[in-house]
Amino acid sequence: MLDNPMWLRDNCPCPDCRDPHSGQKFFQITDLPDDLAVGTVVERPDEVEVTWLPDGHRSVYRRDWLTAPAPVDHRSEAGKRLWAAADLAHAPEADWHAYLSVPGERVRVLEAVQRLGFALLRGVPVEEGRVLEVARSFGYVRETNYGQLFDVRVEPAPGNLAFTSRAIAPHTDNPYRDPVPTIQLLHCLANAAEGGDSGLVDGFHAAALLRAEDPEAFAVLTRTPVPFVYRDAQTELTAFRPLIDVDPLGHVREVRFNNRSFGTLRSPGAFYNAYRAFAKLLARPELMLTFRLGPGDCLIFDNTRLLHARTAFEQSGARHLQGAYADLDGLASTLAVLRRTAALDELEALFTGPGTGDYLGEPVTMAEHMLQAAALAEASGAPAHLVAAALLHDLGHLEGGAELMSGVDNRHSHTGAEVLGRWFGPEVTEPVRLHVAAKRYLCAVEPGYRARLSEASEFTLQVQGGPMSQEEAAVFAALPGAADAVAVRRWDDEAKVAGAPTPGFGHYRPLLARLLRR
Ligand code: OGA
Ligand code: ZN
Ligand code: ZN
Repeated sequence: MLDNPMWLRDNCPCPDCRDPHSGQKFFQITDLPDDLAVGTVVERPDEVEVTWLPDGHRSVYRRDWLTAPAPVDHRSEAGKRLWAAADLAHAPEADWHAYLSVPGERVRVLEAVQRLGFALLRGVPVEEGRVLEVARSFGYVRETNYGQLFDVRVEPAPGNLAFTSRAIAPHTDNPYRDPVPTIQLLHCLANAAEGGDSGLVDGFHAAALLRAEDPEAFAVLTRTPVPFVYRDAQTELTAFRPLIDVDPLGHVREVRFNNRSFGTLRSPGAFYNAYRAFAKLLARPELMLTFRLGPGDCLIFDNTRLLHARTAFEQSGARHLQGAYADLDGLASTLAVLRRTAALDELEALFTGPGTGDYLGEPVTMAEHMLQAAALAEASGAPAHLVAAALLHDLGHLEGGAELMSGVDNRHSHTGAEVLGRWFGPEVTEPVRLHVAAKRYLCAVEPGYRARLSEASEFTLQVQGGPMSQEEAAVFAALPGAADAVAVRRWDDEAKVAGAPTPGFGHYRPLLARLLRR
């Protein structure tokens, strides 16, 4: 990292470089000096401080930021679970009312659309226009020349084969748009006709199979822009995109496949062999998940990945779907924010539930103790991750506190850190993990510290192994996170005042939200 000074400096987190509120950068990349170089480097257990040449700017980088793994693009195959029909024992589905009222259900459904490419909602009211409500539950309706929604039923003079009773082979919708609608919804209002069953094929899985079985054909499809066209009296749309679009890393990112709106490709060269190879692969029966939509079912799917199909149906029978388009970025955002809310709700429930129990013979409850520790951290001007660590340091006590007082080490700092690791990075979990060790450390190195411990703390010190030896203390002091753990420990020791007023858990929600893992 020190060998890439422009990158490192571009990522300086200091308040002169970024707005502390939004995190947005103040400077342009061209504002950095041409002869930018690392001057001095000070290594500390948790952070690295760089003083820059020639301007003397100082940047402090957290070690866990420096070593964080690169995030995965959730749009590319790298962020997906690819499937064939047999891989899906249960198609992802949920009841519409549960989806609306239970955040966890909504997370599950939206995660399925993101990871598997689809989900099925049951029990959406059988009324025209409800498909828009489904789209708005996670994002924004993409209005097109077909309107906000479109009716899929037999029409007298159809401008699209979807509006006849013919079978429709696996396809993606509207490949003639650029950008293409990335989500499609189909809400079934009636399906009383003989036939009219539905099918879904994972286009990313099919593309990955083609890459393995016929790499040359795969390469041709990624390199050939195909003209897709739609024309009617009011509309003329054209887009030139490949059937398989890969990102700059070579990962499949979009599949477009629609024989109905395929325009005329000039100078096709090797294209047709490759196109037929992919089409044959997509038609393998084992790839297609088949099912039947009933009234009230609403299918939500990734139109850049899944191909959808239907069998022919009887002209005379009643079949009516309403469709709409929306976009994956809105869904991903809704999902990320819901995950935040769900995590904070879970933590808050621990404070208002088990947290109201007694705290190890002290005159405060566990929740009061942790809220006091957080208030002390905040009052001392501690950075957000330490306020969070102080607030959450005894989470591991919420089960098993009594055990500790009966003389069994419940290793609560470790269990707490494990639980918190679901949501927070090491800047929060490590001080929590080490806050018991920090007590044993301070007893070894700080004269007078032990004598100030409360009676209960002195008792638990024995259970937890007593003061560290000088060797143990030296090892501890060198750990990343040791200084933070000591800071948390000092607030912990003070946070035992009966009736001390503190802000409630809600006060810390915005601070916690900013620290949640992405
Ligand atoms: C469509 C479509 C499928 C169906 O309208 O794009 O593919 O089941 N409809 O009618
Ligand atoms: Zn379609
Ligand atoms: Zn504590």
